[in-house]
Amino acid sequence: MSEPADFRLRRAVPADLPALVELERATFSYDRMSERQFRRHLHSGSAAVLVAEGEGGLLGSTVLFFRRDTPRARLYSLATAAAARGRGIGAALLAAAEAFARGRGLQTLSLEVRRDNAAAVRLYESRGYRRTAALENYYDDGADAWRYAKSLTNPTP
Ligand SMILES: CC(C)(COP(=O)(O)OP(=O)(O)OC[C@H]1O[C@@H](n2cnc3c(N)ncnc32)[C@H](O)[C@@H]1OP(=O)(O)O)[C@@H](O)C(=O)NCCC(=O)NCCS
Repeated sequence: MSEPADFRLRRAVPADLPALVELERATFSYDRMSERQFRRHLHSGSAAVLVAEGEGGLLGSTVLFFRRDTPRARLYSLATAAAARGRGIGAALLAAAEAFARGRGLQTLSLEVRRDNAAAVRLYESRGYRRTAALENYYDDGADAWRYAKSLTNPTP
């Protein structure tokens, strides 16, 4: 039997901004989201910021984008605090992002990931994401990416 989760998931609120920015700073060394960008996304109808919270405070976050003219949501960012990795938080945030997008009637969730990010590639592939494109020189530092997508209407487990 699996352990009960020691974290909970919810929409981010303005009081989360300092912790969101700190998690972003600690997790990513490029293309970081600023406090101003997070603040805008909290109040935007075309974005959703979800967080995982535990005893140690903010343990993870994910950012989803929507566009009015497509049935597709984009997972822009997913991060678990280094000290909290391997406890199912990333997978739970991903499932919550899918549920959120599905709740808006969207059909597909897509994302890009660095090809050398083994943990994230494994997470997405094990949760039913299928590779749809190879993107060369995609990131600011020249790294290549894969694009993945998952159907939300007929998801593979
Ligand atoms: C990728 C990341 C979000 C995973 O978060 P996490 O909370 O540690 O992940 P979970 O504990 O939920 O693990 C989920 C799955 O990810 C994969 N995974 C996680 N850590 C892994 C590792 N070190 N090596 C290989 N696979 C790994 C596994 O498939 C795992 O599933 P399993 O437990 O059923 O085997 C986390 O490592 C992270 O924040 N990395 C830095 C930021 C980043 O790369 N974000 C993704 C791209 S935007």
